[in-house]
Amino acid sequence: MSDGVATRVAAAHALDDVLHRGRSLKAALGATLPQLDDPRDRALVEAIVLAALRQRVRFNTTLDGWMPRPLGQRDGDLRALLLAGLAQLDMGLPAHAALAATVEAARALKRTHQAGMVNALLRRAQREGVPAAEARSAWPGWLARQVEIDWPVQAADIFAASAQPAPLWLRVNRRWIGRDDYLALLREAGIDATADATLADALRLDTALPVQQLPGFDAGLVSVQDGAAQAVADALAPAAGARILDACAAPGGKAAQLAERDDTLRITALDVDARRVRRMQDTFTRLRLEIDTRCADAANPDSWWDDTSFDAILIDAPCSATGIVRRQPDVLLHRREADITALCGTQAHLLDALWPLLAPGGTLVYATCSILRAENAAQVEAFLARTPDAILKPLDARFGHDTGSGHQRLPGEAGRDGFFCARLKKP
Ligand SMILES: C[S@@+](CC[C@H](N)C(=O)[O-])C[C@H]1O[C@@H](n2cnc3c(N)ncnc32)[C@H](O)[C@@H]1O
Repeated sequence: MSDGVATRVAAAHALDDVLHRGRSLKAALGATLPQLDDPRDRALVEAIVLAALRQRVRFNTTLDGWMPRPLGQRDGDLRALLLAGLAQLDMGLPAHAALAATVEAARALKRTHQAGMVNALLRRAQREGVPAAEARSAWPGWLARQVEIDWPVQAADIFAASAQPAPLWLRVNRRWIGRDDYLALLREAGIDATADATLADALRLDTALPVQQLPGFDAGLVSVQDGAAQAVADALAPAAGARILDACAAPGGKAAQLAERDDTLRITALDVDARRVRRMQDTFTRLRLEIDTRCADAANPDSWWDDTSFDAILIDAPCSATGIVRRQPDVLLHRREADITALCGTQAHLLDALWPLLAPGGTLVYATCSILRAENAAQVEAFLARTPDAILKPLDARFGHDTGSGHQRLPGEAGRDGFFCARLKKP
């Protein structure tokens, strides 16, 4: 099988797993991508799968209208391949090669007798274009309604931005290289990037590329991290030498950023998930940072805390991920209404369990990549109401909309992910 065909087969398998077997995007890509040797092929498969998932409702509606007979329950792989085909046209890949490889992939999937239909449908899409659909239709009804309640003015923009590809944001490791010098390295490599005006270490690339193509990636000069997430370090703004707890730290982006900025900080990076902790340790090794890393349940400090207070605590809490749908479109397939209640419980528990570990005068930042009020402003309001020694310290417009109980960045604004951040102080 040629590489071109193998990538389309891989994309169809991953999509079939996510769409029809309830697998997460991360797990599906994790199972598929290692089978491809070339990082460019892996990047292509990831881009096709993401594009197909973002536009899944629009593509499915079109296919259902165009197909002579509806596809059956057992045709999941064929539907997945058709979505992958439409995604490639949408992405602007050279149509002739994309179509030929996708039709050939139908044969490789033992769909020889349907290869002609795949060809005809994709040619029609190439000729006529795939009709537009309302971005809201990709969201489950209960979640779309909640977004409209929480963000009545911005909801339509949120749905639209969540259906668009995200830019690639980089964080330059200032421990080893300045942003301007790294920008020069990128330009030498023929890669176009923009320095962000409000984030000291951030660069933005409008088209994604495999990290291995980034100069000095393996040597730890740079990391991938969205602009919204990079702002958190400015909210925490720890003093030199501060003792810091990153309570939900894996895969380590924010802990690494803090360590890159100031080598006097004493950071404990904690996470409950052992696999993610190993990934975080690998990241710190790549970035050449020494950070105390632990696998433990932050909500149960008796099991890991040594009774010495922290000057700053970051709770980058597990959440609905509704702010990063453009990067994790499977959120819209797999999230259930009951998950939100459970997540809110976990978040409240983390806040209550960790507040006593904060030293007087200390700062706690509560952050999520959610856009739901229940996980964000309402969570902080409830915490302030039951915690007499907690004071809200407002942030500024760089952190997005002021909710009155923390700041909310909405997806796509300033090119960033949806992200919430509130700063609390202990007198
Ligand atoms: C949003 S992610 C953190 C991202 C990370 N801060 C970064 O910047 O790379 C949330 C993390 O919380 C972890 N987590 C969930 N419940 C936890 C708990 N009770 N104690 C510690 N970590 C927890 C999850 O395993 C997950 O890695």
